[in-house]
Amino acid sequence: MQKKVLNIAHRGASGYKPENTLSSFRHALTYKPDMIELDVYVCLSGELVVIHDDKVDRTTNGQGYVVEKRLSELKKLDAGQGEKIPTLIEILNLVNGKIAINIELKGAGTAKPVAKLIKEYLSKINWQAEQFLVSSFNHPELATFKKLLPNIRIGALFVGIPAELAKPAEDLGAYSINLSQEFISQEFVNDAHRRGLKVFVFTVNDFDDIDRMIKLGVDGLFCNYPDRLQTQ
Ligand code: G3P
Ligand code: CA
Repeated sequence: MQKKVLNIAHRGASGYKPENTLSSFRHALTYKPDMIELDVYVCLSGELVVIHDDKVDRTTNGQGYVVEKRLSELKKLDAGQGEKIPTLIEILNLVNGKIAINIELKGAGTAKPVAKLIKEYLSKINWQAEQFLVSSFNHPELATFKKLLPNIRIGALFVGIPAELAKPAEDLGAYSINLSQEFISQEFVNDAHRRGLKVFVFTVNDFDDIDRMIKLGVDGLFCNYPDRLQTQ
């Protein structure tokens, strides 16, 4: 029997709705994926906000760095189709423990406030520790997070294959290694699995790539169209 590959809705259902917005996550939930993925920064007034780039320019009608704006300023921007930039709290409340959530630490200094917030949500009845996956390309930030909340799973993000294959992720105490699809190979998948790591691949939108990844035996796929993984 073919193994189940996790369906991870990337920046919500970002193929259909403005990425990283409430409407994108709300739409993603209708497909019942296993997990949603989002990106976070700490803005000037201290809140964790959900946005992919360090600047607001690409995804909103504003300009400038996220970390230089207060939440009140960010909330005035249009993030597409009249949507606002959400806070992480708004997304956690929307998901309400129904599925897992992958929080990608994008901005510097995000490990501490994310750890504090997850701790708070773990005391609520709807959330379990296994429903959180915290990932980052910034491995020192990830190591800081792991020290603060060792019982929460972390995912080490890579855009290429490290010389020592999956070893750096194992050294970090990661649950998964999250790799860009251009670099994936059978050797890498086998090495990660030998080390007890899951392999999650981004961003896999085409049907033939989805099939190729499944054949390689990966464990999860980040996809902008959550319905494309419903049939596997
Ligand atoms: O977490 C997978 C993927 O989202 C990482 O790359 O640039 O799309 O955030 P990026
Ligand atoms: Ca991301």
